[in-house]
Amino acid sequence: MFTRMDQSTKEEWDHIYNEHLPHVFDMPKRIISMLEQLEGVSLGFGTDQLHHALQTATMARRANAPDEMILISLIHDIGKVINVPNHGQICAEIIKPYVSDDAYHIIRTHQDFQGEHYYHYQGKPRDLRKQYKDEPWYEKAEEFTDKWDQAAFDPNYEVDSLDSFKPLIKQFFEVPQKLI
Ligand SMILES: [Fe+2]
Repeated sequence: MFTRMDQSTKEEWDHIYNEHLPHVFDMPKRIISMLEQLEGVSLGFGTDQLHHALQTATMARRANAPDEMILISLIHDIGKVINVPNHGQICAEIIKPYVSDDAYHIIRTHQDFQGEHYYHYQGKPRDLRKQYKDEPWYEKAEEFTDKWDQAAFDPNYEVDSLDSFKPLIKQFFEVPQKLI
């Protein structure tokens, strides 16, 4: 195997490509692992982040939202495993090859939509969502935020289990729809 890329051969790159495939197809496991890492992370909220994720997704599922909306409701905060301030962007880039452009943008900007519900307590503008009002995904982003995400901090809400969402995670993350 080469020690510098500028001395590599096609055979070596074919080998590397083949070795990548099982890793790529293992994506559902890594998404599930990130969700599991949210357990016990409460950050001062009344629920931990796993319960919040499950409640957001359960509410979307019970409202008969489309599969992709249920999926993004479940995983929208997995970026918090890495860092909170830019967690929306982190998650958006993780899921980009596997979801629609609408879903990518909804996750990327979801803090700007959430801000309407509490940014006034932090001296920040509440109308950050307005900058996206002409985007084709604006209404869906409002639905996600206002109906489910901001309303999913109830420790007494009976959530569906993480196991119940695993087929949905597999459905979306087993094969990338696009290569970035
Ligand atoms: Fe959230």
